[in-house]
Amino acid sequence: MLSNESIVFSAKNVSKTFGAGKNQVTAVNDVSFDIYDGEIISIVGGSGCGKSVLAKIMLGLYPASKGVFLYNGRKISNLKRHWGEVQSVFQDPFSCFNQFFTIRSQLEDAFNIFKKKPSKEEIKRRVDEGLLAVNVTPKDIEGKYSFELSGGQMQRMLLARIFALRPKVLIADEPTSMVDACVRANILDYLMKLKKELHMTIVFVTHDIGLANYVSDRIFIMHEGKIVNAGTPEEVLDKTEEAHTLKLLDDIPEVHKEEWIKNSHRAKNKKVS
Ligand SMILES: Nc1ncnc2c1ncn2[C@@H]1O[C@H](COP(=O)(O)OP(=O)(O)OP(=O)(O)O)[C@@H](O)[C@H]1O
Ligand SMILES: [Mg+2]
Repeated sequence: MLSNESIVFSAKNVSKTFGAGKNQVTAVNDVSFDIYDGEIISIVGGSGCGKSVLAKIMLGLYPASKGVFLYNGRKISNLKRHWGEVQSVFQDPFSCFNQFFTIRSQLEDAFNIFKKKPSKEEIKRRVDEGLLAVNVTPKDIEGKYSFELSGGQMQRMLLARIFALRPKVLIADEPTSMVDACVRANILDYLMKLKKELHMTIVFVTHDIGLANYVSDRIFIMHEGKIVNAGTPEEVLDKTEEAHTLKLLDDIPEVHKEEWIKNSHRAKNKKVS
């Protein structure tokens, strides 16, 4: 049984609304969950269902309008301290890098987030390690600016930053959206490597239930601001009577779906026997 100390994020009846009166939008609607240390959680759902808003609550960018949201048992109050431990990779990698500075200098400057900064040599070493972890030779980006790299390469730079900074928690919002299938598989493998080697807790936001099935310990299915289905990939895939999960499953190629459902049954049967 997992103990309270290992709860990283805890949401109790959390809602987030924007605007007022007739124009009010409820982006997140009364969600409750716990996320445990070292888990990979995927938040899956269609466009506009509240995934990114929930991710931003975790990052401390939005306070909850209602309910209680805790990180390590406490409300998020000091953002600088929070971002020293909880880092993000967002949809558009170009918005995260300034085109007037070299990528290397920005990877090194990212360490300014820490109250106690490592030495210059240590920072250089960790940036090199981060680049190598995503299969980029440090020499290849020497003197380069973000506009000189492709979208896929930039997404790798964001992940290199995460490998270098080694935050306790990573919020990855559609980090695979700009890349082709081969690079996408690599990025998913990097996420699993982060969990395995650095014991990172990862919240992975995606439209794609197939990707979620591949990487996650647990999946939360969201629809219109609510979590409508949650559990291990086997549990979520087996609860095919849940309408929104079914819809997401319908959107993936038949051949993959059969394979996943077959595998999930196999996993379930194994547990039972
Ligand atoms: N700052 C904001 N002000 C007003 N409404 C907002 C704001 N941010 C998000 N919303 C609204 O909240 C709802 C959820 O948005 P959110 O960005 O979380 O969707 P999403 O699930 O991430 O969608 P996508 O998959 O397209 O990225 C949407 O209706 C959106 O228009
Ligand atoms: Mg989004």
